[in-house]
Amino acid sequence: MNQSVDGIKNSAGRIITLVILFSIAYAIVRYHLVGPVPWKDFPFFILNKGISLAAFILLTFNFGFGPLNNLGVKVPTSWLNARKALGMTGFLLALIHVLMSFMLFSPSVYGKFFESNGTLTLTGGLSMLGGVLAFVVLWGYNMSFQTHLREDKSFIQFITSRTFLLWAMLLGALHIFFMGFEGWLHPAGWHGGIPPVSLVAFAIFAAGYIVNLLGRK
Ligand code: HEM
Repeated sequence: MNQSVDGIKNSAGRIITLVILFSIAYAIVRYHLVGPVPWKDFPFFILNKGISLAAFILLTFNFGFGPLNNLGVKVPTSWLNARKALGMTGFLLALIHVLMSFMLFSPSVYGKFFESNGTLTLTGGLSMLGGVLAFVVLWGYNMSFQTHLREDKSFIQFITSRTFLLWAMLLGALHIFFMGFEGWLHPAGWHGGIPPVSLVAFAIFAAGYIVNLLGRK
């Protein structure tokens, strides 16, 4: 059911619930049920993957629904009305992901990001740079709608412009590309043949990016 306040239909609650359930279920199936990760790691390590995927999907929906509609695909009004809540929820989930990742970030948990001497590998560094920049840009984007900056027309024009958003989206792609691409190229190593969370996020990014490239005004 759509929530309807003052007759305005909004599917945010339903979309957010489904995306979160799908993302956490995907992480559980891939890493616990067909993969080797012990259940004791669910509350933090695996939940962090589910939360980051949900954040990524919601943010892609937030940026993608408008341009998709411009391309002539009839996006339901209740989905278009949901965009603000999707963006805000995606941002808050990304914040949870950032806090959880900071606490987990060590060579024993994320061996692939580190050299044997404990420093970051080049791809680990590029991936984390993308993550940090993507997060800060998202923060700025959110702030611009919340505060007095709203009155700064040229700032709003810049941060919501096609050029800025197309470049900003690439930061998210940088984060997941450099973390995952080596594993993506070896499907034989995927648990149960199921693609890693980073590849699912990248595929969703790629679809969202093309829609933005073609449909964003
Ligand atoms: C300070 C900023 C950030 C840091 C330090 C960070 C850190 C990390 C780390 C350590 C991982 C590896 C997780 C794992 O393999 O279990 C990861 C994965 C991921 N991050 Fe971030 N991240 C940041 C920002 C973001 C932002 C803004 C997004 C966008 C929503 C995001 C989305 C993702 C996704 C989708 C994954 C893939 C999960 C996986 O394959 O396991 N991250 N991040």
